[in-house]
Formats: sequence, C-alpha cells, structure tokens
Amino acid sequence: MDLARSYFNDLSFLDTRHRVKAVRPLRCEDIPAPKSKLPEDFWAGERAATDLEIGCGVGRHPLRYCQNNPRRRLIAVEKSPVRCRSMKVVMEKEGRPSNLLLLHEHASSVLCHLIPESSISRVFILYPNPYPKAKHLNQRWHAHSIMHRILKVLCAEGEVLMRSNIESYMIEAKEYFQDHWNLKVNHLKSFSKEDQKDPWTHFEKKYLDRGQKCFELSVCKPLNWKKP
Ligand SMILES: C[S@@+](CC[C@H](N)C(=O)[O-])C[C@H]1O[C@@H](n2cnc3c(N)ncnc32)[C@H](O)[C@@H]1O
Repeated sequence: MDLARSYFNDLSFLDTRHRVKAVRPLRCEDIPAPKSKLPEDFWAGERAATDLEIGCGVGRHPLRYCQNNPRRRLIAVEKSPVRCRSMKVVMEKEGRPSNLLLLHEHASSVLCHLIPESSISRVFILYPNPYPKAKHLNQRWHAHSIMHRILKVLCAEGEVLMRSNIESYMIEAKEYFQDHWNLKVNHLKSFSKEDQKDPWTHFEKKYLDRGQKCFELSVCKPLNWKKP
C-alpha cells in the first residue's frame, strides 16, 4: 500500500476501532525543563488574553493571528529545528508582532514548566500528525497524557480549537473531548477552499489546494468542569 497516498486521501485510514479509553496520568516532574525562558514579568499583573499554539510549523498562523488580534498574545511552540529556522526567516522578512512569542521547544516542557494553571484562553492544535496506527492512539493529542496538563492551564470557558484534514481523527477527538475530558463541544464542521480563501496554515493550504475538505473542531472547558 502507498502509505503517503492513504494518509492524505483516504479519510477512513485512521484506525479508530477502539472505544474511548482512559488516558494515563501525567507527571510533570518527569518532563524535562525547557531551554527557553519567558520574560520575567510575563504573567504579572493585568494582562492580555493569552493563547497557545502547539506545533505551529513554519508560523503562518501565529503571524496572521497576532496581526489580526493585537489585543491578545500568543505563545507558539514548535519542536522541529528545521521548521523553526524557516519561521525565523519569515519573521525577519515580515517582522514579528510584539504580541507573538515563538518557542523552539517540546510542547510538554512548555506546558509543564512555563505556563501556570488557568492562564490560557485558547489552545490551537492545527493539522496534528495523525498517528494512524491503533497502537499509537496515545500519541494523538486527545488521547495523550499531556491533555491533562493542557486542560489544567486552560481557563474556565477556555477553548481548544483543532483543525485537520482527517475526518475520522476529528470524530474521535470529539468523542474523547466529550466522553473522557468532560468538555462541551461548540462545533465540528467541514470547510473547503471556497469557504477558506486565506488558509490558516501551510498544511491547510496544501490540502485545500488539492480539493480536499478540512475540518474544524471547537470545544470548551465549562465553568463547572469536572476533571476526569
Ligand atoms: C503536521 S505538522 C503541522 C504544522 C502546522 N500546524 C501547519 O498546519 O502547517 C505538525 C507539527 O507539529 C509539530 N509538533 C508535533 N509534536 C510536537 C510537540 N510535542 N511539541 C512541539 N511541536 C510539535 C511538528 O514538529 C510539526 O511541525
């Protein structure tokens, strides 16, 4: 089988035969500290709503989001050195908005060591790696132990917004968010190139240009959230 073809063209490729399973707990003590530091007064006093983007690739979404939302600020995290280098080139050309903080780090290090509880208003996870094999279920973000921490740093009524081109991934994520994480589903909707004239990310542009549909899932942490 041509794996690359099935990854991107066959929406039923993801192995989702299992039921929603409990997600193993996370011990932040076991997660390495990041190399990066935040500015000393980053969390001090009254501050703009702070959002987090996990796996921001070469930075197309962070750049536009910060330009379009000058009253918010965004921490964008990417672990790949190659993508971070490309991002640096783009930022040097276009200029980095002052409300954008880019970190070349693993998301788990940032979440565990740099971000206090209940401090993030919105989390973006855009076009995550699908980990299609059933045995890699616990690498998909909604079934990953780091989700315990993501939901801790999220404020009450905060949002997790995911986009993907893989419908089965999004359906499974919706079930996990509802049934395991006790979140409220705002919407799961599809869109095509006609609906999204200016794609948010490089991956989104690639899929829409190929004529594929993409999907957006938005969930929120209710005021009376019960942690699983
Ligand atoms: C499929 S790419 C999507 C990139 C971008 N969001 C886009 O849509 O163009 C997934 C990205 O997530 C990054 N990533 C995956 N796991 C990560 C982690 N634990 N911490 C930080 N970045 C991560 C990968 O390096 C990769 O750049």
